[in-house]
Amino acid sequence: MNKLEMARAMDEKDVLREFRKQFVSPSDQIYLDGNSLGKLPIKTKTIVQEVVDTQWGQTLIGGWNAHWLELPQRLGDKLARLLCAPPKSIHVGDATSVNLYKLVYALRATNQYGPHLITDALNFPTDNYILQGIAQQFNAPPVVEVVYENEVVPSIEQLKAAIAATPGIVCLSLVSYKSAYLYTMELLNRWAEQHKSIIVWDLSHAVGAVAIDLQKSQTKAAVGCTYKYLNGGPGSPSFLYADPAIVSSLQSPIKGWFGHRNPFDFSPNYLPAEGVDQFKAGTPAILSLAAMEPGVDITLDAGIDNIRAKGLALGEYFLDLVYEKLTGVGFRIESPTEAASRGSHITLSHEESWRICKALLAGDEHGLKIIPDFRPPNFIRFGFAPLYTGFEDLYVTAERLHTIVEEKQFTAYDATQTGVT
Ligand SMILES: Cc1ncc(COP(=O)(O)O)c(C=O)c1O
Repeated sequence: MNKLEMARAMDEKDVLREFRKQFVSPSDQIYLDGNSLGKLPIKTKTIVQEVVDTQWGQTLIGGWNAHWLELPQRLGDKLARLLCAPPKSIHVGDATSVNLYKLVYALRATNQYGPHLITDALNFPTDNYILQGIAQQFNAPPVVEVVYENEVVPSIEQLKAAIAATPGIVCLSLVSYKSAYLYTMELLNRWAEQHKSIIVWDLSHAVGAVAIDLQKSQTKAAVGCTYKYLNGGPGSPSFLYADPAIVSSLQSPIKGWFGHRNPFDFSPNYLPAEGVDQFKAGTPAILSLAAMEPGVDITLDAGIDNIRAKGLALGEYFLDLVYEKLTGVGFRIESPTEAASRGSHITLSHEESWRICKALLAGDEHGLKIIPDFRPPNFIRFGFAPLYTGFEDLYVTAERLHTIVEEKQFTAYDATQTGVT
């Protein structure tokens, strides 16, 4: 069986095959950027229409009691199911950056951990920025950024040594945005606990792609976005998890009325809501929350174990193609090659990455566009969203990459790097 026949056979027996039909999929493209912005679930269009036309248009202010007040909690409980967290332990709303700020600030203010704020070079820049701001506000030592020998795989020993030497609040992305390196949560959570530290996990690149058990892994704090593998839509609200065992020791730095114990008493003094609800701040973004629900529902229906199993199989198949067709024409693998240490995207580099990306996006002679993304200096990320990415998509992509380089098609494009990619 050749690689194309293999792909077709795997697509045929894929248990998630039918889920693909639940998304809007333009016929002239292969979308491999679900690790950045997930596809639009067809049902989302109906829901948004209903919320706008009926709930808002007709019910107006009555929409709060009839539909909207319960929405953040319902979504929080669905995410809790997905992440094996206790009910009512997840707040949904605000951007990931905002939730990270609230959570890290609250943890820092307890003085229960060492004074340091720590991250590593694999983390997403916003996390580092948020920590830098909090360090300033607390007059704390500068943020400790653990820098490893390479950008693909961290040295866990080096990270552990840094935590032991400069204990405090550690912020790590469970799946690294550049290389897709996947950390072992439980091991690091335990290490942190033994060293007067706590880890705040950023689950943005993991949720909906990797099986996560917040309780079993003894995770105490986490945030994450919902617009990648959860297909929640551009700028969809993020989530904040705080272990019920620690949440009562925390105080959100933003004391807004929605985080009040009884917001509709309109009382003059702030009284925090119980549990994670105190991290609510202002009026929830109902249109965005409503748009996010179908993506979460589809993920729960498909089952995260099926999703992860397919994600791993897609990754292994793509790596085989890379070895067979692409390493010989100058591509390098910038993701861990061991499946268990990898999330659901694979990053390649090439000295002509930018122009190769341009050629993929422009389309082939039949007008078929392939959409990955580019991250400086020369990384091309290929995201495998198991709910809608097929094995044949990856075969076609590898063939196209080979042709673009072999026939030097990239030379038709400008090397100037511009805009969102
Ligand atoms: C790991 C990670 N954290 C945070 C963010 C940004 O989150 P937000 O824009 O919701 O604040 C991203 C965006 O891609 C991300 O990849």
